[in-house]
Amino acid sequence: MTTASALIPAAGSGERFGRGVNKVFCEVAGRPVLAHTLAVFESCEAIDEIVLVTRQSDIEASRKLSGRFGFAKVRAIVAGGDERQDSVARGLEKVTREIVAIHDAARPLVTREIIERSIEEAARSGACIAAVPVIDTIKSVTDGDVTGTVDRSNLYAVQTPQTFRTELIREAYRRAYENGVYATDDAALVERLGKRVTVVPGSYDNIKITTPADLEIASVKLGGGEVRAGIGYDVHALVEGRRLVLGGVEIEFEKGLGGHSDADVVLHAIMDALLGAASLGDIGRHFPDSDPQYKGISSLRLLERVNGLLSDAAWQVMNVDAVVVCERPKIAPLASEMSRRIADCLGIDPSRVSVKGTTTEGLGFTGRGEGIACQAVATLGRP
Ligand code: CTP
Ligand code: MG
Repeated sequence: MTTASALIPAAGSGERFGRGVNKVFCEVAGRPVLAHTLAVFESCEAIDEIVLVTRQSDIEASRKLSGRFGFAKVRAIVAGGDERQDSVARGLEKVTREIVAIHDAARPLVTREIIERSIEEAARSGACIAAVPVIDTIKSVTDGDVTGTVDRSNLYAVQTPQTFRTELIREAYRRAYENGVYATDDAALVERLGKRVTVVPGSYDNIKITTPADLEIASVKLGGGEVRAGIGYDVHALVEGRRLVLGGVEIEFEKGLGGHSDADVVLHAIMDALLGAASLGDIGRHFPDSDPQYKGISSLRLLERVNGLLSDAAWQVMNVDAVVVCERPKIAPLASEMSRRIADCLGIDPSRVSVKGTTTEGLGFTGRGEGIACQAVATLGRP
């Protein structure tokens, strides 16, 4: 299999989008456009490095985004330039593979198949673009008057990825700058050298987010996937001489929960809900309490591992809701800190994690202060 670098220009200002924001950081179906785009390349076997080009002011946010979604292939993040062409030129300096697939961050609906097809074709022909036949009738118009109907049988609407032998596209860029040429796509710079550029089938779904209306279309296409719910329940006894950790937060209290790990009953219920939603068993199976490596371990570390298992199966956490059942301590003042810790660990916004407390009016083991229980539900989504 031929492998390649991906070069993702994301350094635009989104003027036509018109909200004073870089559109690639806008959320659609639960994550930023840029994360959707990077996820496709990350999951593509033929890609072994990603060079991301962003505005200087977005470099830090992009690094965080890569970390949060676990994009291990992002090897370089560099500052772009005034025009898309300048941004790509800067990215090209960082590319290390013989083939490079250049793809707009603003096209989150690209598929693995299109990318792989492009890489194979570029290895063969040297340069290729993803494109689709034009569907609409095209007319030329001058001052509001139709001056002709164009034969559309040879017309293609051009998309990205545009994929090249790295040496060839570097040469094309070098010559463009020597001659002061700016083009609206990468292939045009190869065409002007008189070199062959071939076409691979793109997809009518592979739209570029340009206006807010495009975001709505993308939201339907990206969000229309599978959604699953899971439930979790856990109980630990309150005992002397242990720390009390709930939802990843250590709490001043006269007793703590007994157990093999830190006995964080909230995280245990949440992990079981997450694993249950994905039909991946339960925490007892993944982290048996007979295994010494889990003795005293922070359950946040276990939650990270559960999140990894979910990512491997292409699941994204949509939301978590947990109810902690105890008379004391009072949960309300601690809830937002717990929700923040859990959300950080799962790489999602804290607004998607709810933690609340309830008492049992003095009844039962929780009412007598013998232990703490927690129930949780979680939903997962995948495209
Ligand atoms: N791009 C870039 N550097 C630029 C301009 C654009 O890296 N100086 C990137 C964009 O972030 C986008 C892709 O090139 O992923 C395609 O550009 P376009 O859709 O035109 O995005 P913007 O330039 O951000 O939008 P607009 O033209 O409406 O300002
Ligand atoms: Mg632009």
